Amino acid sequence: MKPSTSRPRPSGLVCAYRKLPRGAGREEQSSILVALFGKLGYMRTLEVSAADARSAVVCGLGAWLPPRIVTNDELATRLDTSDEWIRTRTGIQTRHIVSPGMPTSYLAAEAGARAMESAGVKDVDALVLATTTPDRPCPASAPRVAHRLGLTGRPAFDVSAVCTGFLYALSVAAGLIVSGAAEHILVIGAEAFSTIIDPHDRTSGVLFGDGAGAVVLRAGDHQEPGAIGWVELGSDGSLDDIITVRAGGSEQRSAGAPQSPADSYFSMRGQEVFPHAVRRMAEAATTALAHARWRPDEVDRLVGHQANLRILHALSERMHIPRERLVVHLDRVGNTAAASIPLALAHAQSTGELFPGARVLLAAFGGGATWGATAVTWPDIKAL
Ligand code: ACO
Repeated sequence: MKPSTSRPRPSGLVCAYRKLPRGAGREEQSSILVALFGKLGYMRTLEVSAADARSAVVCGLGAWLPPRIVTNDELATRLDTSDEWIRTRTGIQTRHIVSPGMPTSYLAAEAGARAMESAGVKDVDALVLATTTPDRPCPASAPRVAHRLGLTGRPAFDVSAVCTGFLYALSVAAGLIVSGAAEHILVIGAEAFSTIIDPHDRTSGVLFGDGAGAVVLRAGDHQEPGAIGWVELGSDGSLDDIITVRAGGSEQRSAGAPQSPADSYFSMRGQEVFPHAVRRMAEAATTALAHARWRPDEVDRLVGHQANLRILHALSERMHIPRERLVVHLDRVGNTAAASIPLALAHAQSTGELFPGARVLLAAFGGGATWGATAVTWPDIKAL
C-alpha cells in the first residue's frame, strides 16, 4: 500500500502499535508494547519515543440513510406487534429501509463519499468496509464501493464482526496508518440488514434498520483531537449461535439443504444476548477509559451500539455515566448493526451533542460474539 503523501515512515515502529496512555513514560510505553506483542506471540525490536507517537486521527464523517421510513404502526399492519410494545421494549420508533434493488454497497458509497467530502480528500490509500450484509457472499463488497468512489486500484476489504464491525474496522485501519502503510483510510460501516430479516419474524423484524456511516482517518499525532486511542476488542466463539444466519455458509452448504426456510434468515436469542451485551460493552469501555486515563465522570458522550434503549440505560448505569450523556439514535433508525456507531456519531454531530474537545466513549457488542470500545477526544469536523 503506497501512502498518498510523502511523510516518512516511523522508524522501527511496529504494525499493531496503537496509542499509548497520555503521559505514559518511556519505560511504561515499552512494557505495554512488550505485553502486547508477547500476547500476539511474537516480538520485534522496539524503538519507541515521543516522536514515534503517530496516530490515526478522525478527519471526516459522513452518513447516509435510505429515504424510505417504516414506522412501528406500519409494521403492526403486517406483524403481530404494536407501536406500544416496540417503543417500551426497545425505544425504537422508526427505521429506514432500502428500496428494491438497493444493495449495501450503494449505501456504503453514499456515506463514504460524504465522509471524504467532509475530510476534504479526493483519494485515500485504502477502504475498509464493516458489514454483515455484503452484496454477495463472494466477493467482498469493499472493492465495488471503492470502484464507485473512484478509488479503483486501492486496497479494499470487508470486515465482518456484525454490530462490532465498525470498531474492528477502525482498529485495523488505525493500525495500518500507525505502521506507516497508509496516510488516509476510509472506514465505512454499512448494512442493508432488512434483507436478511424473515418477513414473518416479529421479534427481529421490529429491531433492525438499514443505513451507512463512515469516517476518514488520516495520519497525525496521538495528542491531537480525533486521535484513535486504544481500541479494546474481544470475541467469544462459544456464543456464535445466539446471533446468526444459519444457512448460506460452508457449514450448511457442506451438509446439504437448509433445514428450514428460517435458516436463511437472521435469528437472535435476544434475552440471552442482553446480559452479554451489557457486560462485555461495560468491560471493554472500562479498559478503553483506563488507557485514555479518563474517569467515567469525565466522559461527555457515551456512544453505545444502538441495539435497544434498555441496553444503553443498563450500560450507562454500569459505567456510572449519567443517562443524559448517552447518544441515542436508535429511536429514529433502529439497530443498524455495523453502521450503528458512525450513524450515531453523525447524528450527534448534527445535533451539537458532539463538540470539539468532547470526550467520547464508543462501545459495541455484536454477533460472534464480538465486542469493543475506544475513547476519542472529538475533533473539529463537520458531518455530511
Ligand atoms: N411484538 C410483540 N410481542 C413480541 C414481539 C413483538 N415485536 N417480539 C417478541 N414478542 C413477545 C415474545 O413472543 C414474548 O411473548 P411470550 O411472553 O408470550 O412468550 C414476549 O414478547 C417477551 O419476549 P422477550 O424476547 O422476552 O422480549 P424482551 O423484552 O427480551 O425483548 C429484545 C426482546 C428486544 C430482542 C431484547 O431481548 C433485546 O433487545 N435483546 C438484545 C439484543 C441486542 O443487544 N442485540 C445486540 C447485538 S445485535 C447484532 O449483533 C446483530
